[in-house]
Amino acid sequence: MTILEVENLSAGYGKLDILKGVGMRVKAGDIVSIIGPNGAGKSTLLKSIFGILKPRTGTIRLKGKDITGLNPDRIARHGISYVPQLNNVFPSMTIEENLQMGAFIRNDDFSQRMAEIYALFPVLSERKKQKAGQLSGGQRQMVAMGRALMVDPELLLLDEPSAGLAPNLVDMIFEKIQEVNATGVSIVIVEQNAREALKMSDHGYVLAMGKNVLDDTGRALLANEEVGRLYLGG
Ligand SMILES: Nc1ncnc2c1ncn2[C@@H]1O[C@H](COP(=O)(O)OP(=O)(O)OP(=O)(O)O)[C@@H](O)[C@H]1O
Ligand SMILES: [Mg+2]
Repeated sequence: MTILEVENLSAGYGKLDILKGVGMRVKAGDIVSIIGPNGAGKSTLLKSIFGILKPRTGTIRLKGKDITGLNPDRIARHGISYVPQLNNVFPSMTIEENLQMGAFIRNDDFSQRMAEIYALFPVLSERKKQKAGQLSGGQRQMVAMGRALMVDPELLLLDEPSAGLAPNLVDMIFEKIQEVNATGVSIVIVEQNAREALKMSDHGYVLAMGKNVLDDTGRALLANEEVGRLYLGG
């Protein structure tokens, strides 16, 4: 089953066109990576899917339902959650308060969900009364993911979750992403650590200058000599 389908998507800022007819398809249960050089439009693509940026042309479908142009809170209710590249926690709030904020669209009892998230990230459970701003980069990234997971999404969009982390923490975050995926959440991830991201990805898309360059299985992209040279640092 296809969970997400992006067709001929164009979007930009003011007069600036960034995405120029991008397409993408995500199968339910998959991890899909988006890689490409700085400024390619990777973050712009995630922002467009989540409705932060209104597409100029094109269609975005979630499980066949057209969600193009909806506001982020509506899109969250349809089952997509998003962790931005920057400023993705509330630093002056505690871990627990951050998770509560993540549940903003829920008016049911979310204590069970919170327990599941603490089980996934035990370190957050130990520190639930600590302010998010006092945490290490890796822990903050876990708070950001935990917050996004509070709505129990079917599809999680992650923008550079390993940015700025030491190599052992990069591995830890990637393991956590695979654990989240194993609970049935489909994942679209933008990564500078493209090689590592492709290793855990069912499929990958290469974007450059706002357009699709190519897409293939993670394994095939890793084995592609030109992809390696141009986009994976040799
Ligand atoms: N809010 C904004 N207003 C104007 N231009 C923007 C804005 N955000 C991004 N851009 C421009 O859009 C282009 C694509 O940016 P985007 O952030 O999508 O790239 P990216 O592929 O995520 O790059 P990076 O790897 O550096 O995160 C860049 O040229 C960027 O300068
Ligand atoms: Mg970006």
